[in-house]
Amino acid sequence: MNDEYDVIVLGTGLTECILSGIMSVKGKKVLHMDRNSYYGAESASITPLEDLYARFNLPGKPPESMGKGRDWNVDLVPKFLMANGQLVRMLLITQVTRYLDFKVVEGSYVYKAGKIHKVPSTESEALMSSLMGMFEKRRFKKFLVFIANFDENDPKTWEGIDPHKTTMKCIFQKYNLGGDVIDFTGHSLALYRTDDYLNDPCLETINRIKLYSESLARYGKSPYLYPLYGLGELPQGFARLSAIYGGTYMLNKPVEEIVMENGKVVGVKSEGEVARCKQLICDPSYFMSRTEKVGQVIRAICILSHPISNTSDINSCQIIIPQNQVNRKHDIYVCMISSAHNVAAKGKYIAIASTTVETNDPEKEIKPALDLLEPIEQKFVSISDQYAPTDEGTESQIFISRSYDATTHFETTCDDIKNIYRRMTGSDFDFAEMERGKKDIYGDAAE
Ligand SMILES: *[C@@H]1O[C@H](CO)[C@@H](O)[C@H](O)[C@H]1NC(C)=O
Repeated sequence: MNDEYDVIVLGTGLTECILSGIMSVKGKKVLHMDRNSYYGAESASITPLEDLYARFNLPGKPPESMGKGRDWNVDLVPKFLMANGQLVRMLLITQVTRYLDFKVVEGSYVYKAGKIHKVPSTESEALMSSLMGMFEKRRFKKFLVFIANFDENDPKTWEGIDPHKTTMKCIFQKYNLGGDVIDFTGHSLALYRTDDYLNDPCLETINRIKLYSESLARYGKSPYLYPLYGLGELPQGFARLSAIYGGTYMLNKPVEEIVMENGKVVGVKSEGEVARCKQLICDPSYFMSRTEKVGQVIRAICILSHPISNTSDINSCQIIIPQNQVNRKHDIYVCMISSAHNVAAKGKYIAIASTTVETNDPEKEIKPALDLLEPIEQKFVSISDQYAPTDEGTESQIFISRSYDATTHFETTCDDIKNIYRRMTGSDFDFAEMERGKKDIYGDAAE
């Protein structure tokens, strides 16, 4: 503890654990502390079920019908991994995959006019979908072919548009697509939370739809993966990586003071001792005065004894309720997993509804999602403030992460990680470079 470190990391959320893993692999001397006795901070998975009841101040113990408390691992922040997304790439490069087992999420659904429909994302699915009329299907198919062939680096595939200038709205017009198709394309394939993207250059949206399609193509049922035993396995996997490279981990460590000299961090005081450091990474809760509130997210963890209706009784799925369908500005999401993922007792399902809060009555805002889940056996509702750092940290060398948002995948979390990496090192996080370095790190075993 009295040593001098390159980097001290506070809080064992996923963002912090990935950064500490990367920094350790890059040869930095890392000390990682958490005030809690468990890994994961805000993104922890809670076990046993008794702890979840206590955390939400529910009186009494879970009823017998909930089975053994130890069979439960309940995520506080529901998210899935995109099969072709950035987090999976980080897991593969660092070989943290060796500590984890994943299952493919079995379906992806979208809500339209009070009913849920499977999200079509391939040409053949689009042609069978109940979401569109016959002529619209043909136009949508043409649009999907354009997206599939599109290559950012090959103007011959651009079909006369300029991906850096043409807005997404114009692209939808070009393919003559109507409001409902635009709705599910923007929200269920490109995974936008609002409609702001319509007036932006189309490149980002096209790449997001490609990410969805390519992720889906990997395993077929949905573009999403989920780790057995819950999301809490992810930060722990990266913590193990960091430890292999000499990182030191300490749980149950209260942090009394972040020690500064001339506006720059020099150490962290815990239990009367100061550990010195050159740089500090932490989640917002460790340095609130350098953060600002940027919004609120409501999350309702619902325990069910049945699969969600009209989803062919699958054991995991995502449902997106696009904002337009329920007169909102932000989408509502449902992530459902079950005993098949070793996160619930046999025969039980965990569905988490979430959205960005817009009113003074957030629970009413998620009612369209809760209605899809009835009957709900037990509900745990949280409303969390979201924080973002007020500065880049270049002067203080204190790098604060953003709170987890309402999206149901890790792409924005990975953007934050890459952003912090750039602020800390002055260079971009380069997947290709890490991939090339893999052999140096792991020797020939990596081949
Ligand atoms: C579920 O399917 C039934 C029968 O097709 C239909 O009446 C009902 O509206 C559907 N509900 C939802 C939420 O999709």
